[in-house]
Amino acid sequence: MELCVALDLPTKEENLNLIKKIQNYNVWLKVGLRTYIRDGEDFLLAIKKINPDFKIFLDLKLYDIPNTMADAAESIMGLGVDMFNVHASAGKRAMKEVMRRLDTFDKRPIVLAVTALTSFSEEEFQDVYEKDIALKADKFAKDAMESGLDGVVCSAYESASIKNISSQKFMTLTPGIRPFGEDAGDQKRVADIAFAKNAYVDFIVVGRPIYKSENPEEVVKKILERI
Ligand code: C5P
Repeated sequence: MELCVALDLPTKEENLNLIKKIQNYNVWLKVGLRTYIRDGEDFLLAIKKINPDFKIFLDLKLYDIPNTMADAAESIMGLGVDMFNVHASAGKRAMKEVMRRLDTFDKRPIVLAVTALTSFSEEEFQDVYEKDIALKADKFAKDAMESGLDGVVCSAYESASIKNISSQKFMTLTPGIRPFGEDAGDQKRVADIAFAKNAYVDFIVVGRPIYKSENPEEVVKKILERI
């Protein structure tokens, strides 16, 4: 299992300070919507300047018509990131088009599909998708696998079932991780490290428990010891 640190701080400087504090650890860095919209490609270059070995997950959750998603995916190729994601609810045709476009390159990033956002409660999810989270997450994962993607973003609660219906090689990345039972914030389906491990999760994403801590380096160190 690998650790992916969410860079969700309010300014570029604060994110870079956090990265400097954890630069000697073998972690992935997750660049999300706010950070990418504000700081763009320059920020990705700044990360690589601190430590070129950092792997970057660009968490933009693409959702659009197939051609637009594939165009965006092709532009993402030019950024040199190691992983990015799309929404599974964009449908199989869109996911297949993204993969078809990326497969024309020698080397491509890992591509994941978002199943159910970890901030959804069962009721909120039902309101949008009219299905149980567990059932729909399995279906989204199946669609993503059949479209040639490498794995899915899901909560730790869906990971084991998704691995069961796909394969151990099909990756799961789970946000909503509270490593040592910290405050859930706006997340509804949170889990700790032991739970994620038992659910065969490949990547845990941790944001607030690290960047809101007095000593982020210590938290990262403790998480890495446990995983
Ligand atoms: O602070 P916290 O650990 O809750 O951060 C989780 C991160 O994972 C946030 O950047 C959030 O946008 C992202 N994420 C999520 N649920 C998903 C996909 C991404 O929480 N399904």
